Amino acid sequence: MLCLGIESTAHTFSCSVINSGNNNDNDNIVLSEVRDIYKAPIGWGIHPRDASKHHAQVAPKILKECLDKAQVSIKNIDLISYSAGPGLGPCLRIGAVIARSLSAFYDIPLIPVNHAIGHIELGIKLTELNSPLTLLVSGGHTMILVFHKNKWRIFGETLDITLGQLFDQVGRSMGFASPCGNKIEELSNLSDKNSVYPLPYVIKGNDVSFSGLLTAVKALMRNKEYALPDICFSLEETAFSIMVEAVERALSFTEKKEFLVVGGVSANNRLSRMLQIACDYHDSIFKSCPLQFCGDNGVQIAWAGLQSFLYSSSSKVHPEKAPISQSWRLDTVDILWRDSE
Ligand code: KG4
Ligand code: ZN
Repeated sequence: MLCLGIESTAHTFSCSVINSGNNNDNDNIVLSEVRDIYKAPIGWGIHPRDASKHHAQVAPKILKECLDKAQVSIKNIDLISYSAGPGLGPCLRIGAVIARSLSAFYDIPLIPVNHAIGHIELGIKLTELNSPLTLLVSGGHTMILVFHKNKWRIFGETLDITLGQLFDQVGRSMGFASPCGNKIEELSNLSDKNSVYPLPYVIKGNDVSFSGLLTAVKALMRNKEYALPDICFSLEETAFSIMVEAVERALSFTEKKEFLVVGGVSANNRLSRMLQIACDYHDSIFKSCPLQFCGDNGVQIAWAGLQSFLYSSSSKVHPEKAPISQSWRLDTVDILWRDSE
């Protein structure tokens, strides 16, 4: 069965074709994945309308390239999945309109997918874990999750901004275009890493907070005494220590022996290294989503949609009624294809 996945929640427009026939062979599931990322003007965040214009402009080319690369025609596609939320309204609408049109015209079943569930479920598939304690760190989410009774339950989360927002906002103040977490990592690697400037460290129970850290880092930047690489290094060390402490609390409490990190920020090497050390200490297997699929991509949407449809074909929606929801929480989604604990 061939599934086309369409991702358009925020900065990335991506299409992918996956093949369920190769379910047990991770290397052959993904027939194609093509993406184009909207870059905000230097120093600015994502403007939803501009990002949606970007998506509308690149969509025909991305879709064609994706089908060509998979060597299939749209008529060969058995299922279409699209990211229905959470995300930026104008961006979601572009993906949904394309998905609805293709579904209606070619009479192909249509599945709405929760973007965050896509990150988690694809991560589990690619790492071959069963039911890990999962950290989702991206621009839209910072959550520690455990699967229980058919749903991904939130064990802990950020009380204010996400890790991705923290990195993007610091990066923007430094003159980069959002999303720019990778630029912070590059700068941090230029530091001699001899000292960590004292910065706010806030963890409340199982939850974390980064807004005070953001304000303090911006204040450090105004003081020309400090070099940017050293500021970035201090930011990474502090933010990741907070995150890893919260993860350790969750590992202790749940006694989970598998741990997975997914989402755009999971591309960060230092974060992975720190999580690996924590997992070793707790005798838990550490896995990170493969780098290629950390950031937003059509494969995560195709994979989650396919699982939902294979479990029950009644999960499909009529094209005219296909929903989008800017604030669709992942802990409201029933995951019926996964064994419940
Ligand atoms: O998963 P994703 O592509 O989109 C959302 O679902 O939000 O995550 C994007 C986020 C951005 O905030 C981006 O700056 C951050 O992931 N990111 C990184 C790195 N690469 C991407 N943050 C820190 N270090 C990186 N290497
Ligand atoms: Zn994402």
